[in-house]
Amino acid sequence: MNTQNGRWWREGVFYQVYVPSFQDGDADGFGDLRGVEQRLDHLAALGVTAIWLSPIYASPLLDFGYDVSGYTEVGAVFGDLATFDRIVRGAHDRGLRVVLDYVPQHTSSEHPWFRDALSSRDSEHRDWYLWHDPNPDGGPPNNWASAFGGPSWTFHEPTGQYYYHAHLPEQPSLNWRNPAVKQAMFDVMRFWLDRGVDGFRVDAVWRLIKDARLRDNPMDDGDGSFEIGGAAAHTTVRQIQKYTADQPELPGLLAEMHTVTEEYDDRMLMGELHLKLERVAALGTRGLDLAMNFALIDAPWNGVDLAKLIQRYYAALPPGSHPNWVLSNHDRSRLASRIGAERVPGALALLLTLRGTPTLYYGDELGLPDAPVDAGHARDCAELRAPGLGLGRDPQRMPMPWRESPAHAGFTPDDVEPWLPIPSWAGRFSVEAQELEPRSVLVLVKELLALRRELPALRRGGITVLSAHPDQLVYLRGDGEDSLLVAVNLSDRDQEIAFHSPRRTLWSSHSAVAEPASLTLAPFEARILAADTR
Ligand code: NOJ
Repeated sequence: MNTQNGRWWREGVFYQVYVPSFQDGDADGFGDLRGVEQRLDHLAALGVTAIWLSPIYASPLLDFGYDVSGYTEVGAVFGDLATFDRIVRGAHDRGLRVVLDYVPQHTSSEHPWFRDALSSRDSEHRDWYLWHDPNPDGGPPNNWASAFGGPSWTFHEPTGQYYYHAHLPEQPSLNWRNPAVKQAMFDVMRFWLDRGVDGFRVDAVWRLIKDARLRDNPMDDGDGSFEIGGAAAHTTVRQIQKYTADQPELPGLLAEMHTVTEEYDDRMLMGELHLKLERVAALGTRGLDLAMNFALIDAPWNGVDLAKLIQRYYAALPPGSHPNWVLSNHDRSRLASRIGAERVPGALALLLTLRGTPTLYYGDELGLPDAPVDAGHARDCAELRAPGLGLGRDPQRMPMPWRESPAHAGFTPDDVEPWLPIPSWAGRFSVEAQELEPRSVLVLVKELLALRRELPALRRGGITVLSAHPDQLVYLRGDGEDSLLVAVNLSDRDQEIAFHSPRRTLWSSHSAVAEPASLTLAPFEARILAADTR
């Protein structure tokens, strides 16, 4: 594979494969690597550049892989290293890059390092985690709260100290101030880089370092001074993560982490950050090649707010920080359920034509909505810990529907129970059904990805936002004769779009449009127009 085209991630498109839900390859109802291997052709045909695999390591699966008990092992339920190696080769042969989820903030409590840390205060790995004596009253050392609810300190009776966990008690946080932790975790990266992975999506990276003085976090007084999202929003929303996130040492640590990727050709780091947009933009300069921007997930879906957000982000980017956009992921309600199915084509057109690297979530290309999961079938720890509050993430992890008719839509054989329920309507959204449907979401996404590959203006052109109207979003990509005009109708009424120079339609989310281009966008239509130089 060609390793000479450095910075491929700047012009590429990422696709997140949530492995448990993508394809079951060994008929146990749970997605795995063999399943991913079977679906590489789908990903290549779709036209994305890189696949990001959610964690595939050894894990007790309390957080479905975000609780790692062996960083250099493939979890048995996911497959084995031989299958993983075949995926890397198979992906590279098809021109696809492979990015692994890397979970450095915490291990599983089943990890041998933590088991050793529990054995005594003097154990070799004790200081690999964050331990502290109780307060004089026996309580935890401070008020830090866990992302999944409750205090982020758990008392360990036999050794008489509390340990810190930003998430579940079964996900103890590593002590990144300890040089031995750094070395061990950097070696984990090398293990996978040696096997040919093209980079890492770094989990919970904004939380990697905590305040050494353990100062209490202030409570949120509602002034909006701190924005958080994702899993974090579930329960720490009332606490400003002043001392548990984005500490002054973070950029230096990320830069150090990045040097590991620099030992190899053409590898990259993308980091999960739930911080103010300006901080996200700032953290994309050193260390992270892409500082993941989730702002669109929380954006009010109207032209004025979207235009403001887009401009605010670009304005905040320091030189060298490459823009990127995420519309959905395994932690948040799906796009169709957030903004309405009719707005999905426009939203995907936006994602794939804004300046910067987009990340698609599996099933986005089908316009999948959330799938309701009743209490008896709930699997996500966020739901199990606080049932019925709407915090669970199972609905957005519905298994991928591949085929129209079999009971489980081709995700798993008919006689096998899938790990999460697959509703009877799933087949209608399947790849098989949409491939045959003229303007299906799948067809639109393929066309948009093809346009992105074809037109340099969409990959590298500048951007000028033209309208700030609640029902429209209109912007230019690129300059001069090659500039493209992207217009999205966000409303259920026709919208008139004014052009300053002649334009011809290159692409529309609706039926093919006759030339010359109409200036009226149908309800929810998105359209891309080139300058008409004839
Ligand atoms: C962020 C991941 O996206 C989420 O799924 C997970 O629960 C937490 N990090 C903890 O690893």
